[in-house]
Amino acid sequence: MTLGISTRAVHSGEPDRQYMDSITTPIVMTSSYTFATMDEVLDYVTGKVDRFEYGRYGNPTTAVVIKKLRELESAEDAEVFDSGMTAVSCTLLGLLREGDHLILTDDVYKKTLMFCEKVLPRFGIRTSVVKMGDYNEMEEVLRRHPETKLVLSESPTNPYLNIADMDTLCELKKRFGFILVVDATFATPVNQQPLTQGADVVVHSATKYLGGHNDLLGGAALGRKDLIEAIRDYRNTTGGVMDPMTSYLLLRGLKTLAIRMERHNTNGFLVAQFLERHPRVRKVYYPGLPSHHDHRLALKYMRGCGGVVTFELHANLERTLKFLSSLKLFKIGPSFGGVEALVTHPMTISYYDYPPEERKRLGILDELVRLSVGIEDSQDLIDDLAQALAKI
Ligand SMILES: Cc1ncc(COP(=O)(O)O)c(C=O)c1O
Repeated sequence: MTLGISTRAVHSGEPDRQYMDSITTPIVMTSSYTFATMDEVLDYVTGKVDRFEYGRYGNPTTAVVIKKLRELESAEDAEVFDSGMTAVSCTLLGLLREGDHLILTDDVYKKTLMFCEKVLPRFGIRTSVVKMGDYNEMEEVLRRHPETKLVLSESPTNPYLNIADMDTLCELKKRFGFILVVDATFATPVNQQPLTQGADVVVHSATKYLGGHNDLLGGAALGRKDLIEAIRDYRNTTGGVMDPMTSYLLLRGLKTLAIRMERHNTNGFLVAQFLERHPRVRKVYYPGLPSHHDHRLALKYMRGCGGVVTFELHANLERTLKFLSSLKLFKIGPSFGGVEALVTHPMTISYYDYPPEERKRLGILDELVRLSVGIEDSQDLIDDLAQALAKI
């Protein structure tokens, strides 16, 4: 019997019988595990018995969250980390070697780009950045760099919510033989499962929708067993382990993932529609809207488009800042994917240190605003936006 995604979110990974018959998985706060006898040690080291030994290699609470994520993402194997960036860096350092080349799309998370351009060259790993959606450019780079071992794309991306064309990426993968990694933080397994669409590894910042309550930092990498084992080996050596308390919070968050995503999808769509009709708004970027440049790809690969909505105001910088400060329900802050509505101004919050011409090249306009729509009532969110728009 194949269970639905909401049922899996609640029950997958949870043991049939819990400690002291509790309903929820307990938090096992221990750094190490003991053996009653040396026979137990020998059974463990010879592989006769699979058990926990030391906190960097595993924990019972964390093991449950790994299993739940694996089943939600339809993955052969999975590992979790202490942040999304640890998931990204361990994936790249676990899979790449000196002399390898990787391709990144140009709209990946800023720190991912920084890691590839500043840290990886120290290990003899080179990166080429190609424009998201330009698969001819990607093909040219693949021809020029036969040593390309890996392609990393996000989907959807920040802040314009570009969608990766999975079929085209898979066709290139077949011809050039690289590992395809998709950072699906914005999608979540509820809206898209890239592993079922040809990706080899999916990474997530669990800090966002997976945790869902703005109360934890975490990351995950899921996919082909041989690849996840290499990533895990790297992490078991270097650290970056998710602690048991965070694993518990993530388990708790994941139980409501499917139902939260339903609300994020509905709220995102309704807010995007409202903004698109508003005279003070010049342009809205939401893949669920027919006007979005990747709407066709969203329909093909996604079941919903989530709660991030980006838009440009008909306003200068001063009036844009006034709009942001006038919002009441939407709190100003970075991040997205939690139950609380947040708003960010990419120009100041993420790109303030960039020269204006570089910001322009990246499309980070003064009047660009990114919303992370929470699970509040959509009408309350719309009313809040309407009152702030009326002030500019
Ligand atoms: C798409 C994406 N990947 C990775 C990360 C990094 O995750 P974390 O902040 O959990 O390290 C982020 C953070 O915003 C992100 O947006």
